[in-house]
Amino acid sequence: MTELNALDQVREKLREHGQEHVLRFIGELSEADAKFLLSQIESVDFPQLVELHRQLVIEKTAVAAEETIEPMRADSWEAFGISERASMANQGMRALRDGKVAAFLVAGGQGTRLGHDGPKGVFDIGLPSRKSLFQLQAERLLRLSRQSGKTIPWYIMTSEENHDETTAFFKERRFFGIPEREIFFFKQGQMPVVDEQGKILLASKGRLSMGPNGNGGCFLALSQSGALADMQRRGVEYVFFYSVDNALVRVCDPHFTGFAIHSGAPAASKAVIKAGPREKVGVLCLRNGKPSVLEYSEMSEDMLEARSGDGKLRYAAANIAVHLFTRDFLETHVAAALPFHVAHKKITFLDETGTSVTPTLPNAYKFELFMFDLFPLSGRMAAMEVIREEEFAPVKNRDGVDSPASARALVLALHRKWSLAAGLTETELANKTVEISPLASYSGEGINPALIRSQLGNPIIHVS
Ligand code: UTP
Repeated sequence: MTELNALDQVREKLREHGQEHVLRFIGELSEADAKFLLSQIESVDFPQLVELHRQLVIEKTAVAAEETIEPMRADSWEAFGISERASMANQGMRALRDGKVAAFLVAGGQGTRLGHDGPKGVFDIGLPSRKSLFQLQAERLLRLSRQSGKTIPWYIMTSEENHDETTAFFKERRFFGIPEREIFFFKQGQMPVVDEQGKILLASKGRLSMGPNGNGGCFLALSQSGALADMQRRGVEYVFFYSVDNALVRVCDPHFTGFAIHSGAPAASKAVIKAGPREKVGVLCLRNGKPSVLEYSEMSEDMLEARSGDGKLRYAAANIAVHLFTRDFLETHVAAALPFHVAHKKITFLDETGTSVTPTLPNAYKFELFMFDLFPLSGRMAAMEVIREEEFAPVKNRDGVDSPASARALVLALHRKWSLAAGLTETELANKTVEISPLASYSGEGINPALIRSQLGNPIIHVS
């Protein structure tokens, strides 16, 4: 009797928000499945969902018109004098040695453009070693940990969808040699997926269609999971944020860490120069004087093409999702109400007859938080310009631009460049592929040319 009342109450609540259809198949579910569905419903903030649909889908609230947008200045490492560079590099390495730096990876995305089923970090971009993105990152952390003498803690955000597969992957590979206690996995939050009318889609008879709440969900998740408190316990002061799909990411880069500390700003970001006006990347800027990212889709034609006196693109500092935050800043703003953004996607759903439908056109709206919406709260952000070919090999699409093939080519080109810098000649390396393990070199240092020469009889050379 009580259960019936409870179900009636849920039905009533759903009706209030125009969502009673999600109970359409409840009579066909086992007790356990019905319980699961009810728990999902319980987790949804219906007034928020209805409001987001109204604002972002029906009214399409636009960006305020009277905004001032200025480019953000980005300094390259080379722009600093030799002694300043040495001092920043020392500061970064000291912070690592003192255990003040943590790596924070957001890996909860769905990788829909790549079309890879499962966590993107397990993806192998086809390097001769067949290392996954996770392994490349783990080995860079290991190399740095060995150099600094202190294991760097690694915080990894997953999603409901990919958490188990991610943790199983790490376990099977014995955490790539990193002590298990130094890795902290936690899940991000979820948001329901709605149709054109704002009705929640069903993934199956007993399951709402839910997706991760965007990479901006990382801040709340960091605090709710206890990861932030864990950082505090360990004495971490600087949090190196990065995304899973950059095959060249220099995780916890001591130079960048030193640069950020030296700047005294609560937040810092790496940037590469935009490849051209049409490259579809967001750029770092000052929006009404506050640090922000201006998305490609938000830029007018004039802004895309704007050039400074020296002929260079005016809005050129492309955001590559590599940042450093002070823990203090995160603690202050972790629960900030960031705005939601909407994405129109093709999502398979169950129709009213109980048939699974895979649409050919976008049919659903997902509401997502973006991590860079935290930037304005920093008040001041330092930006460091880095060399694209050395630090940015994104894996976004299945083919063509920003694909596994382009990322692989970038990694191998860099390793070749390092080998040449270590003393090999073009003639020696003709028709050879060189792959250098991050365990042997983090950013081109310490490469033994004799080791490469000893393998010149092979088409593929491994330096490990
Ligand atoms: P993207 O914006 O490229 O999204 O993520 P994605 O889900 O990986 O790929 P598409 O758009 O579906 O093709 C940038 C970074 O943010 C993380 C991703 O894992 C990646 O490291 N991310 C994204 C999350 O952690 N959670 C999310 O909800 C979305």
